[in-house]
Amino acid sequence: MIRRIGIVGLGLLGRGITACFLEKGFEVVALTRNHEEHEFAFPIIGAMLSELVDRGVASSKILKLWKGNFKQVTDTNGLADCQFIIESVFEDLATKQKVFDDLEKVVPHDVVIASNTSAIPISVLQQSRKNPGRFVGMHWAEPAHATRFLELIQGEATSKQAMDTTIEVSKLLGKDPVVCMKDVPGFIVNRIAYAMYREALHLVETGVADFETIDRSLRNTLGLWAASCGPFRWIDLTGGPSLYAKAMQRIVPTLTNDSALPLPLEDLVKKDAHGIKNGVGFYNYTPEESRIWEDRQRRHTWAVKHWLDSEFPLK
Ligand SMILES: NC(=O)c1ccc[n+]([C@@H]2O[C@H](COP(=O)([O-])OP(=O)(O)OC[C@H]3O[C@@H](n4cnc5c(N)ncnc54)[C@H](O)[C@@H]3O)[C@@H](O)[C@H]2O)c1
Repeated sequence: MIRRIGIVGLGLLGRGITACFLEKGFEVVALTRNHEEHEFAFPIIGAMLSELVDRGVASSKILKLWKGNFKQVTDTNGLADCQFIIESVFEDLATKQKVFDDLEKVVPHDVVIASNTSAIPISVLQQSRKNPGRFVGMHWAEPAHATRFLELIQGEATSKQAMDTTIEVSKLLGKDPVVCMKDVPGFIVNRIAYAMYREALHLVETGVADFETIDRSLRNTLGLWAASCGPFRWIDLTGGPSLYAKAMQRIVPTLTNDSALPLPLEDLVKKDAHGIKNGVGFYNYTPEESRIWEDRQRRHTWAVKHWLDSEFPLK
């Protein structure tokens, strides 16, 4: 029975992942590069757990228990007795490989190592590993402590046992895991999302509409159905495959398939645009506007989560 989880990296995602495990009563050993990172992460993890209690998802008992179940380390040796490991460090192949080199020296051969990479193929991460079968992809979504999303990726060498263990752990966390059976770049959700981002930027670049207009259009349509249906259920509800096939024949040949970065995006990269982090993105933000948008998105996430939990309860 898996009780002790190792988490490498307490950035944006690592903190939410840690909160998920602590909320379910797991012991968590978190590895960061230094004590300052632990000091920064600790109160944020506490605040996420309070939010889970305030939103009625977790019992208030957890607020007394979590600190006793949480261990902070800055040396990989501290993860030696963990039974399941999640890596969530920078999206950089060399950084992840160094973490795996270190883990392989201390973590028993059969312990699953899951990577939260967004786009690096798991089969690439498995290359030159001592036991590639234990490596799986475990792709979380922000805010990790609140969403039901978990995309699990089967690398070319991933063993059935490693995948089964990862599914089991995901379910114990109260997530709704999906398995991506082929290790394609971007997995399921990011492939679909990036096709949409590219077309949205193409519409701006070709003068069809501006950023704000496109955001409003999507918010009022796709925003309504995407939380309840996937694309296939939506097609069934609104005319069915035969109708959509006709529209597809007309529209698909006109969609962009350009592999170069769209110009509006390149322009923003030159301005060092980091969105609400530095107030420069497709829109400009004052600190107050950044806070309002973050808060609005968070409230929406919880509303959708509660709705999903009531309409599609997890088994
Ligand atoms: N941001 C998202 O929405 C999102 C969603 C899904 C998956 N991811 C993936 O999750 C991973 C982490 O992303 P993030 O957004 O949390 O990034 P982040 O920059 O917020 O956090 C990365 C953390 O890793 C730490 N780190 C780097 N090297 C380390 C090492 N050797 N040992 C311990 N800690 C180390 C850094 O100090 C930092 O705190 C990436 O692979 C990313 O692609 C991100």
